[in-house]
Amino acid sequence: VIPWVESIEAVRQAVDEARARGLTIGLVPTMGALHEGHVHLIERCRAEADFVVVSIFVNPTQFGPSEDFTRYPRTPELDRDRAAAGGADLIFAPTAEAMYPHGQESTCIDVLPFSGIFEGAIRPGHFRGVATVVLKLFSIVGPDLACFGKKDFQQQCVIRRMAEDLNLRLSIQIVETVREPDGLALSSRNRYLDPDQRRGALVLRRALENARTAVAGGVRDAERVRQILHDTINSEPMAQLDYAEVVDAETLGVLTVLGADRTAVALLAVRFGATRLIDNAFLPE
Ligand code: PAJ
Repeated sequence: VIPWVESIEAVRQAVDEARARGLTIGLVPTMGALHEGHVHLIERCRAEADFVVVSIFVNPTQFGPSEDFTRYPRTPELDRDRAAAGGADLIFAPTAEAMYPHGQESTCIDVLPFSGIFEGAIRPGHFRGVATVVLKLFSIVGPDLACFGKKDFQQQCVIRRMAEDLNLRLSIQIVETVREPDGLALSSRNRYLDPDQRRGALVLRRALENARTAVAGGVRDAERVRQILHDTINSEPMAQLDYAEVVDAETLGVLTVLGADRTAVALLAVRFGATRLIDNAFLPE
């Protein structure tokens, strides 16, 4: 079993010792309830850093008042096994009191270009919570490398922009999405889906595939691709579309044409009952 520490002093001491041995430090921030997607992220981090810290913190500041903070899954025993399976060297699982001794509304980071669009529009304050806690984790651990999943596409835009704007001295690596055999992106929230919703959730993958097929067939009109995404999602009666857009992969600006001069990405957010799922795909692949 790998060490599990809760205090900021303890994680800093362990990292200092690793550094003194000449090791490079990797960090994988998570909210626990680890699944194979997280394990893959940890493996990728371990491949590029000598000493990998996995943080587990269900960050209250990134949940809205009506969101699932209190019922967010907490599975510490399983997390310890999965983190070890991925090759982590240490788990850092702080308390909310240790992270926010002056309360949650003290100093915060807002990455303005992304904070009010897509996920940020639907979840006001969400990315402020994410950016702030991630900067705090960077500051506590001091990693050379931190890894984030492509599944949360807007989140990785926020983190990369923050690192650039604030001249953070670390490298950020984005890791491919791990999926179920049928194509559903792994997510801690998939467990909330009932069997019918779970079948219905395949519509996200289908929508992205239809978009890719259209682009591979020569479609360059982004509005046409957007329509394909909408039509596919709306063909599933259980699905409620929050948004489906074709955007520039760097700025998340909405595109009118797909061109060779920039990378386009399709962003999807779909609700099944109270459960929200997100996914994305580069266009073309
Ligand atoms: P969490 O949802 O636990 O995700 C932790 C990391 O795992 C994120 O970088 C996320 O993009 C990645 N991830 C999730 N599902 C994945 C999948 N199917 N394949 C590959 N990677 C996947 O995202 C958060 O936590 C929080 O917002 C956090 C960054 C920890 C800040 O609190």
